[in-house]
Amino acid sequence: MTDYFYITTPIYYVNDVPHIGHAYTTIAADFIARFHRLDEKEVKFLTGTDEHGQKVAKAAANQGVTPRELVDKVSVNFRDLVTAMNCSPDRFIRTTEPQHYAAAQALWRKLVARGYIYKSTYSGWYSMRDEAYYQPDEIVDGKAPTGAPVEWIEESSYFFKLSDFQQPLLDYYQANPDFIVPLSRRNEVVSFVAGGLKDLSISRATLKWGVPVPDDEEHVMYVWLDALTNYITALGYPNWEENAQALWCNVCHIIGKDILRFHAVYWPAFLMAADLPPPARIFAHGWWTNEGQKISKSVGNVIDPLQLLEEYDVDVLRYFLLRNVPFGQDGDFSKRLLQERRDKELANDLGNLAQRVLSFVVTHCGGRVPETFALAPSDKELIALGENLLARLRQAIQEQALHRYLELVWELITSANRYIDHEKPWALRKEDPARMQTVISLLCQTIYRIAIALLPALPTTSQKLLQQLGFQAEIPNFSSFLKSSIIVGQQLGAVTPLFPRA
Ligand code: MSP
Repeated sequence: MTDYFYITTPIYYVNDVPHIGHAYTTIAADFIARFHRLDEKEVKFLTGTDEHGQKVAKAAANQGVTPRELVDKVSVNFRDLVTAMNCSPDRFIRTTEPQHYAAAQALWRKLVARGYIYKSTYSGWYSMRDEAYYQPDEIVDGKAPTGAPVEWIEESSYFFKLSDFQQPLLDYYQANPDFIVPLSRRNEVVSFVAGGLKDLSISRATLKWGVPVPDDEEHVMYVWLDALTNYITALGYPNWEENAQALWCNVCHIIGKDILRFHAVYWPAFLMAADLPPPARIFAHGWWTNEGQKISKSVGNVIDPLQLLEEYDVDVLRYFLLRNVPFGQDGDFSKRLLQERRDKELANDLGNLAQRVLSFVVTHCGGRVPETFALAPSDKELIALGENLLARLRQAIQEQALHRYLELVWELITSANRYIDHEKPWALRKEDPARMQTVISLLCQTIYRIAIALLPALPTTSQKLLQQLGFQAEIPNFSSFLKSSIIVGQQLGAVTPLFPRA
């Protein structure tokens, strides 16, 4: 039976150039998507751009271009970022696509038909930076709780009966304790909803740049209702594609903590109102600071991921972002730490392990992975560590503990390095050639497992390693992880350092 898995990133606003925060969310989602593909699931991985709203309209006006010209230009930058970060989405969606207009309007009509939309007047606070409405009691010192400036608006508006969903949402959170992770974030949402929900303004009459409200040319949809719908547009809504329902039941939305309320409150309420199942999981990751400072354009400390690629391999950046911070917590970007992790963990621990073992095979074993003979307790220990790794990696992915995943792989790398130092294959060469072959064979098998385990996080490095182990094009999956002895007798490819010194 096929298992399905659907993973999404937020769709990125095109008012700005892509920065490290965007790269981070997409890389994390890519890691999880690649893992599930290797675990032989039917995966759909969605990312894209959020192209409507006041913020984008204003950015276009500032640049003296039409919103359409701006979005066509900037959306490409986000697509290029995905490629540069070696991410593997199955679909890059843009909210200006006709297919998305059709889906957003179909959802709107459904909400109208079910009696959840009414017309009235909105008078209150709006923050363009957050594209969010705020209640008067949320305003602190004339600003949104996020620190964003707010403006008072008063205009005709359609409303969504969010207040009807307080209890259904609370029931849903209780029945699905893993719906919002990490737990601390879940608690935040539960107390927000328990505090009471007001109806939500879902259209703008003073803005033209958006999806038109069906049957009312004067209004465009509120950008968040439009944007959230992208997750089902990509599954063909309202005419679900084949397998769409199976994918939807296994969806995981990866988002940053700043946009949790939209995903964990508004989105499930819209879906319930349309008689659709709420998403299965929402994972909110933390925020990056730069050398201890909040990243912001006005401070001038925005980190350009493409510039980092001029200095570092993409896998070094992926590794640092995924490993340095427990996924879900805030993290600090520091070049010193990036360099340290590159040198110690990638070049030394992993790179040297591969280099030592594989060049030994080339020099002393005729370039072929030798076979094993009688096994000593230390051999069995290394084999068991390798075999048990897969179950632990699956668990880490299930919990979105991406940093833990890498730590687990590094535990095996460290054990393999210790095993070499202890077994001293170079000394065994003369004393006990059969033993030397066993040790080297088991090390090659362990490196093979490490390469497969790292494919989701460090795809380029892993492929390079698999090529050195003599695999050409085909990528193994996790079922070949346990059958590491298939590489015995294999002729190695050219052995070169994985992380050459610049
Ligand atoms: N367009 C909305 C999302 C709509 S989803 C239906 C949006 N876009 S965004 O471009 O502003 O932000 C996209 C993502 O980037 C968010 O998940 C946000 O948390 C993340 N990041 C932006 N800056 C960040 C950091 N400094 N650190 C980590 N991630 C951050 O919101």
